Amino acid sequence: MIACEVLRRQYLEAMGITLWQRRVLLANEVMVGTSEQSVVAHGAAPASATAAVGLQALAGEVASCVKCPLHSTRKQTVFGVGSASAEWMFIGEAPGVQEDLQGEPFVGRAGQLLNAMLAAIGLKREQVYIANVLKCRPPNNRDPQPHEVDCCEPYLLRQIELINPSIILALGRHAAHSLLKSDLPLAKLRGRRLTYHGIPLVVTYHPAYLLRNPVDKRKAWDDLCLARDVVKAS
Ligand code: URA
Repeated sequence: MIACEVLRRQYLEAMGITLWQRRVLLANEVMVGTSEQSVVAHGAAPASATAAVGLQALAGEVASCVKCPLHSTRKQTVFGVGSASAEWMFIGEAPGVQEDLQGEPFVGRAGQLLNAMLAAIGLKREQVYIANVLKCRPPNNRDPQPHEVDCCEPYLLRQIELINPSIILALGRHAAHSLLKSDLPLAKLRGRRLTYHGIPLVVTYHPAYLLRNPVDKRKAWDDLCLARDVVKAS
């Protein structure tokens, strides 16, 4: 419990939430936090060569995809980024304007918050894998359409198959609904160990939502703790 509290504190601090605490406690907790971090941090395992090669080939396929109308408005496809042997896989909804320009998921403000969330659980961005349900930006950031999700899902499934993560984090309502084929409210999907094609999945808030509703960052931390427990048990 103490370790989780320390990590929660680190997470909240990384996310810009200041907590008041007695100084004597702080000194102890930093020590505990340091050792706990080394427990939860996953060293960068050498990427599976097969997975890396497979991902590279798939990225090439995605880059020339014209299966849905989004190909005509995208600047470029946004395939995914991270370790081919990641234990943690984060899946968002679709690229936004910055991602469309840079060709990498979660590089805007929401991405900075996602990086802070990763840091709080002792993970670096390059240790995890980050992707979206859609590989192309919907014009004006509108919601993904069912036909677009249907066209893109085989690419995501192949990414998951190659990486074979221990946990998938679905970021936000749209990602959760697209993956789980459910329209349950996020409140009903959070806090549970679900599965997507046999891989454990935890639903949490989208970082962009958390930027607008910082009060829910604490609940997002609970989701990360649940995901960490699932990874530890795997
Ligand atoms: N929001 C998403 O869902 N994905 C991104 O890559 C960026 C913002």
